[in-house]
Amino acid sequence: MKEQDQKTELDIEIRPMKFEDIDAVDEINRLSFSNPWSRESFERELTSNKIARYFVAVYNEKIVGFVGLWIIFQEAQITTIAVHPDYRGKKIGDRLLDFVIEYCLKNQVRNIILEVRVSNTIAQNLYYKKGFQKIGVRKWYYKDGEDALVMVKKLFL
Ligand SMILES: CC(C)(COP(=O)(O)OP(=O)(O)OC[C@H]1O[C@@H](n2cnc3c(N)ncnc32)[C@H](O)[C@@H]1OP(=O)(O)O)[C@@H](O)C(=O)NCCC(=O)NCCS
Repeated sequence: MKEQDQKTELDIEIRPMKFEDIDAVDEINRLSFSNPWSRESFERELTSNKIARYFVAVYNEKIVGFVGLWIIFQEAQITTIAVHPDYRGKKIGDRLLDFVIEYCLKNQVRNIILEVRVSNTIAQNLYYKKGFQKIGVRKWYYKDGEDALVMVKKLFL
């Protein structure tokens, strides 16, 4: 990363994820989660899940983040979101979520739902900032026994 990029917001592009992106996405996935999805999960999502929509954030032709969602009628579920550790704190997560919200608005989605580890205050801060509210807790949701907060953003009141 260039020195001038250390604190500034980066000029990223957000576009649909392609099959060729999976290596880069999987690397970020493994660097970001204690219990990461398998590479095959991304392959399946892109090739055989009709309700899945995945997007990548690209900076200088390098994939620096991604987000996934499932759309079921007027409900969307954010399945995953991550930014490469070298590129965090530069509003890429912020931009990815704005993109998802805009995408959902265009597709008549009424509620965006997600789960987040109770310990993941960084991600929770991001979600609260974008207008998500806590609606419940799923006990022992993760394989290691941690609980998940369930959060929702309502798009049409
Ligand atoms: C959560 C994640 C996607 C945020 O991406 P990011 O690009 O670093 O975040 P941004 O720079 O866009 O910051 C957006 C907001 O997130 C919160 N945030 C980001 N970094 C933070 C930090 N170090 N401490 C506290 N809050 C933080 C803040 O609310 C911030 O808004 P602000 O800058 O106006 O204060 C990133 O930390 C990540 O990939 N984490 C690992 C994977 C993960 O936990 N995904 C969520 C699963 S539910």
